[in-house]
Amino acid sequence: ITEFPGKLIVPGFIDCHVHYPQLDIIASYGEQLLDWLHRYAYPAEARFSDAHYAREVAAVFVNELLANGTTTALVFGTVHPHSADAIFEAAKARDMRLIAGKVLMDCNCPEELQDDADSAYSESKALIERWHGRGRLGYAITPRFALTSSEQQLAAAGRLAREYPDVWIHTHLAENRDEVEQIARQFPSCRSYLDVYDSFALLRERSVFAHCLHMDDKDRACMASKGGAAAFCPTSNLFLGSGLFDLSAMRAADIRCGLGTDVGGGTSLSMLRTASEAYKVLHLQDHALPATRALYLATLGAAEALSLDAYIGNVLPGKEADFVVLDPAASRLSARRSAAAGTIEEEFFALMTLADDRHVAATFVRGKSQRPV
Ligand code: GUN
Ligand code: ZN
Repeated sequence: ITEFPGKLIVPGFIDCHVHYPQLDIIASYGEQLLDWLHRYAYPAEARFSDAHYAREVAAVFVNELLANGTTTALVFGTVHPHSADAIFEAAKARDMRLIAGKVLMDCNCPEELQDDADSAYSESKALIERWHGRGRLGYAITPRFALTSSEQQLAAAGRLAREYPDVWIHTHLAENRDEVEQIARQFPSCRSYLDVYDSFALLRERSVFAHCLHMDDKDRACMASKGGAAAFCPTSNLFLGSGLFDLSAMRAADIRCGLGTDVGGGTSLSMLRTASEAYKVLHLQDHALPATRALYLATLGAAEALSLDAYIGNVLPGKEADFVVLDPAASRLSARRSAAAGTIEEEFFALMTLADDRHVAATFVRGKSQRPV
């Protein structure tokens, strides 16, 4: 028996949307989404043509997740199939439950990062056969966003999704106003951005959409009725100046939502930092997020959004024993604030507001400590 006096034990954190190839461009200055992609994200992703580099970054990334108490993530690779192999191998070595995919992108982006409709289909299919359902790993068909896929490629992705009804679909939706305008021009016959994905059979159970900022009630009703889920990425939405996620409207529509870091657009891999920024984003919209609800969005709520709640998200008997030990005394100020807290809710709220990776004392994956305790 290992005891953790004075510490808090919570379920392992679940990051519903993150780009491992963007680890090294976190905190890049000055641009909103479309310029940021061209100036920072695409050049960083081009380096992943080198499989050795991909493996090195994947190993660092997985270690950073665990150091932050994140035991599961839904992860973007790059267009290179070996980028998916690299992250799956790194997760497998740690026995982590992780979902990832190779990115599909065949237009409106640098040529060196383009695949095409046929290679997107065949490479994704080969990766599904290799990784989906292997141990704790799952595959996500990953069209980057509708701007960087031709209609042929979106159709190929939809065909693949129909062939594999239990793989995930992972993409971006309605993040930035210029992006939404360009989508309307590129797909004039679609009612909305969501309708583009829906019309190519990419909206269903296990579809996870990052951001979902600029949507209307019709979109929300449609997403809910088809079983799509949303990743709320507050640090990214603030950093890239994208907008404010409307959690009240999403919940009123009955859409499953979990928190995502969206690193490198997001500014931290810590789900505690992410929860704290979620609180502020919602506060700007007259919605106070209770600490228990914030914790839910980073654990069980995220597991529900990813359709993984039968396995992870809390510590009920039969679940997979992914959990984190948090140390409220890991920094001077949080120690002082924690000592003054009257209830566990107050203590957790202060911790989530003040904490970072220093406050993660230990991370357990399937019952095994991943750091010395
Ligand atoms: N939309 C399309 N690609 C990206 C990306 O890499 N990051 C974010 N935040 N949004 C995107
Ligand atoms: Zn993203």
